[in-house]
Amino acid sequence: MCKKKFVVGITGASGMAYAVRLLEVLSTCDCDVHLVVSDTAYRVLESERGISLPKQEFNPRAIGLSANCVSEFFPSGCIHFHRCDDFTASIASGSFRTDGMVICPCTMGTLGAIASGLSLNLIHRAAEVHLKEHRRLVLVPRETPYSLIHLENMTRIARAGGVILPASPAFYKGVKDLEGAVNFIVSRICDQLGIENNLTKRWAGPDEVEEEDYSLQEKSYEMVG
Ligand SMILES: Cc1cc2nc3c(=O)[nH]c(=O)nc-3n(C[C@H](O)[C@H](O)[C@H](O)COP(=O)(O)O)c2cc1C
Repeated sequence: MCKKKFVVGITGASGMAYAVRLLEVLSTCDCDVHLVVSDTAYRVLESERGISLPKQEFNPRAIGLSANCVSEFFPSGCIHFHRCDDFTASIASGSFRTDGMVICPCTMGTLGAIASGLSLNLIHRAAEVHLKEHRRLVLVPRETPYSLIHLENMTRIARAGGVILPASPAFYKGVKDLEGAVNFIVSRICDQLGIENNLTKRWAGPDEVEEEDYSLQEKSYEMVG
């Protein structure tokens, strides 16, 4: 059976913790990842995570992944890195089949470019390909508040078949810290891509929640006392 193939775009919005966690999860799944990082994303990676990468390169160790997950270094590696200005990359063509694409986090700039059909870089082009081929495209925007232009761009993409999955974590079912919030969003992304995961507890009705809340209260009480 062929391995699943996913395209992952990382753009220069706040929320690099989501991107790093997503790559961690995907690199442990039996799938191929085609990764593209926008120019500004390198800058945000540095300011938010202290991760300094040479532009247009990808060092898995710098983001805490093992080097053997990158195909450039190991033939069995699952991460194939593409430069953001490389329109000759496989993922720029609809004839290269994939099982979906996610842009996480997704800037309003990239969202606007996709909504307008502008292919200014490889991330925009791969997203355009996913829409035209009617394949799964998941965008994880990070901005607040949204302007009417942002909302209209999102509506346009949703009408064209894209999934808008805002980085809006829930705080039920035991999510009580940033790690839990990040896992919640990455879990929802994986759900959209059809990847089995237990990154977060799932809602199973109010009765279970009451029980869960009770145990959490007990735990906090223990810690405070
Ligand atoms: C530190 C930093 C944080 C940013 N955060 C956001 C953000 O949360 N959302 C957003 O839409 N743009 C944000 N921007 C602005 C985008 O990076 C900028 O519009 C850029 O041109 C987007 O290019 P890209 O989509 O190709 O990455 C941020 C920029 C910097 C430097």
